[in-house]
Amino acid sequence: MRLLVIGGTRFLGRHLVAQALQAGHRVTLLNRGRANPGLFPQADHCIADRNGDLSVLGDDERWDAAIDNCAYLPRQVHALAARLAGRVGQYQMVSSISVYAAFRPGMAEDAALATIDDPDTETVDGRTYGALKALCEQAAEAGFPGRCLQPRPALIVGPHDPTERFTWWVRRFARAEPGGEVLAPGRPDAPVQFIDVRDAAAWLLRQAEAGTTGAFNLTGPDPAGTMGGLIDALRTTLGPTVRPVWVDEDFLRAAGVEPWSDLPVWLGRDEEASHRLDASRARATGLRCRPWAETIADTAAWAATAAASPSTPPGLAPAREAELLARWRAP
Ligand SMILES: NC(=O)c1ccc[n+]([C@@H]2O[C@H](COP(=O)([O-])OP(=O)(O)OC[C@H]3O[C@@H](n4cnc5c(N)ncnc54)[C@H](OP(=O)(O)O)[C@@H]3O)[C@@H](O)[C@H]2O)c1
Repeated sequence: MRLLVIGGTRFLGRHLVAQALQAGHRVTLLNRGRANPGLFPQADHCIADRNGDLSVLGDDERWDAAIDNCAYLPRQVHALAARLAGRVGQYQMVSSISVYAAFRPGMAEDAALATIDDPDTETVDGRTYGALKALCEQAAEAGFPGRCLQPRPALIVGPHDPTERFTWWVRRFARAEPGGEVLAPGRPDAPVQFIDVRDAAAWLLRQAEAGTTGAFNLTGPDPAGTMGGLIDALRTTLGPTVRPVWVDEDFLRAAGVEPWSDLPVWLGRDEEASHRLDASRARATGLRCRPWAETIADTAAWAATAAASPSTPPGLAPAREAELLARWRAP
């Protein structure tokens, strides 16, 4: 198969390209050459900013599938479609579960999508990201009619994750003292979903090979996981003697602790429905999710060699966590 990957050198794209090359596919990469230059010498490289001149993609080359891993604005999809018109088989626009207008437990792909007042905005942030991705999905269908796959991943985790969300938990348990305590937020039975980046990449590649079309929630595990299951998998894999201390959500909120940003992965009860999506369509088309223990062990091995990359990484600082635990215990 001839595969074009737009944005294939950092996290999801990097794993996708590695697996595609491993499977013997011929891969062309389009990116700016900033993230990990020198990666994948065996691929064909087109160095360009997708927001500018795309003549680097030539006029004659054809691809069986194009996987667009870094589209955030509909005009980016329109520009790519104009450049590639008639030259790709399947087009994958990697979307997100953030496309949904609201979440309810067990939600499938037919739920209502988010909308935006200003569809031409160039500001991609927490308020606009999901609705702009929904517009990217529409732009994909307009530009590559009947040939689009719109994978909607939930939280993606694993080696090379630049966001330090799931990785924060891995680092937290990896540095815990034997017998020490770790703050565990909310309820052990609160739902948790995420997908190992390598499982997401394998599914994308499989759908490129099959030419699948349509929208798919992309997350694991099967059956759905819980915060207690995650904490237990972290403890078992990284610190069997560590003692989790479950701290009530109301106490944490009153202390100014924010779910997701202060304690990554965890969502408070008002938002936890987004950790309970129906991914049965993806499973029926081959999605397989590895055990959490494997994701944790591999992320820990990678994290031990990689510094936390965001300038303001998420997660509680050690002193703040200790102070919260002391206050939680205080009579
Ligand atoms: N991470 C998650 O938890 C999550 C969850 C749901 C959905 N998603 C979606 O999954 C996709 C992959 O996310 P990711 O974080 O894993 O991305 P990634 O693979 O790290 O992708 C970044 C890639 O895009 C390239 N790139 C960025 N801007 C570019 C531009 N203007 N022109 C050309 N290439 C450009 C980068 O290379 P250069 O910098 O060298 O150009 C790099 O190769 C995204 O569409 C995201 O919205 C992610």
